[in-house]
Amino acid sequence: MRGDAVDSERTGLSFEQIAGLWRRRLPWMLACLVVVAGGAYGYSKHKVKKYTATAVLSFNSSQLSQQIAGLSSNSSATSVLGAQDDDVESVKVGDMAAKTARLLGLGLTEQDVSESVTVTGRGESGIVDVAATSTSPPLAAMIANTYSRQFVKEQQSANRRFFRSALALVSKQLQQLPPAQRFGSDGLDLQERAHTLSLLSELGYNNAEVAQEASVPSSPSSPKVTKDTAIGALVGLIVGLFIAFVVERFDRRIKSSEELEALYALPLLGVVPKSSALSRSPLPPSEAEAFSLIRAHLRFFSVDRDVRTLVIASPQPGDGKTTIAHHLAEAAARLGSRVMLIEADLRQPTLAARLGIGSGPGLADVLIGASAMNDAVRVKALGAQGESDDGHRLDLLAAGTARPPNPGELLESRMMSSVIDQARSAYDLVVIDTPPLGAVSDAFPLLTKVDGVVIIGRIRRSRRDAAEELQKVLAGSGASLLGVIANGAKPRVPGSYIRAGGDGVSSAPRSGTAFASDDLVSTGPTL
Ligand SMILES: Nc1ncnc2c1ncn2[C@@H]1O[C@H](COP(=O)(O)OP(=O)(O)OP(=O)(O)O)[C@@H](O)[C@H]1O
Ligand SMILES: [Mg+2]
Repeated sequence: MRGDAVDSERTGLSFEQIAGLWRRRLPWMLACLVVVAGGAYGYSKHKVKKYTATAVLSFNSSQLSQQIAGLSSNSSATSVLGAQDDDVESVKVGDMAAKTARLLGLGLTEQDVSESVTVTGRGESGIVDVAATSTSPPLAAMIANTYSRQFVKEQQSANRRFFRSALALVSKQLQQLPPAQRFGSDGLDLQERAHTLSLLSELGYNNAEVAQEASVPSSPSSPKVTKDTAIGALVGLIVGLFIAFVVERFDRRIKSSEELEALYALPLLGVVPKSSALSRSPLPPSEAEAFSLIRAHLRFFSVDRDVRTLVIASPQPGDGKTTIAHHLAEAAARLGSRVMLIEADLRQPTLAARLGIGSGPGLADVLIGASAMNDAVRVKALGAQGESDDGHRLDLLAAGTARPPNPGELLESRMMSSVIDQARSAYDLVVIDTPPLGAVSDAFPLLTKVDGVVIIGRIRRSRRDAAEELQKVLAGSGASLLGVIANGAKPRVPGSYIRAGGDGVSSAPRSGTAFASDDLVSTGPTL
């Protein structure tokens, strides 16, 4: 399981991981989308409007022109007709821009015209678009029309020159024929061609014409605010996704209960939702249900073992050990078990205050021999949802008033073993809250003194490397590791009965057996 997690980390993200990433980073991605799309909208909206007018030129086949002239199609006589092989190029070349600028006047330069005109062919159709772009719609139409008309005119005079020189050539060939052949088939052929060429040069045959004049555009061709905004939104989304992936890659926090399970290679005992109500007691029904389920899962996972003493541990401060130990103990007590909660965090005790029990002797006092265990145990009566006392109680052995300089040694002592043994014999369940294992070593001796150890991981807060280190230590410790609890996951459906995991994990056990409702209320000898 652990291997799977590591493998997927190396080889890429699974669908669930991507879905999780999407959920977690959605606000960032949306923010990127909105900012970039908004920027594109603002930029586009304030850009100067430009209008494009398009005139359409139509070309005849240049081969036809050459045949009319009596030239073979692979003739090297290039002149103007040779250049027509590439209609678009023929429209671009020459001094059309300068002539257009001159004809229009209006202070336009050759550069203004050539920058505003774009010539594009429509595939092989012999149709060429001459598009002119300007901040003034009428000017755009004037440039496109003047440019294309001028082009057609130039073509016409070039063609006329071409046909005249072809006529001169044919006439010369005719004169060079011996008189006898002039009226033979060769001579008649040349005479016919000369006649055609003379007609063409007089008529002004043209291989290009303006098929459609440019009209004054009514709407701007740029900026296209909707298109620019849509492109901005897309770019923003891509940037947001990229940032999300990068942040996810470098984020060393545990992101889901599956990841927590995989890191410790232990079953998931339950999910505690993120809730401010956890600092109070009694808990609202949905939060209380989460702890009842954890208790039921513990019974399920340790069905063949007599697990009466339980250590709640985690690598880092703030993972939620004390919170979970308290509510788990209280949930079991409310369901009728005899429960003792022991505070083994002798450095930063908080339980007496959390349970609303005043200060007094506790575990430290018992361990140094300053107090008897019976005198140090405090009782918290549990009312039914804080209303009337239904007879259930939670016994607390808080850290106490003594502040020993060597808590680790005290917890390792025989006296501590004796405290645990006494508690085991007197209670159905003993829950021990500990200091963070990654910060201080105090709690390590306890791990092997109890029947089971439960590890807490706080989702999106606990660090993966701290969990990995603890897992390595625990693997060789001989402690009886029962499972993990994912703390702080968001409930997907608030108050849901079974699903409490915001990261999509059911609180039901992995092994597949659904708990009968009796499991939640039965009061067996253990847990
Ligand atoms: N699921 C949760 N939802 C909201 N707040 C939580 C949750 N779990 C814990 N907290 C809060 O986080 C803080 C730290 O929790 P807690 O004291 O239980 O952690 P801890 O592991 O015992 O820390 P330490 O190792 O320092 O003793 C507390 O204020 C607690 O109320
Ligand atoms: Mg604590």
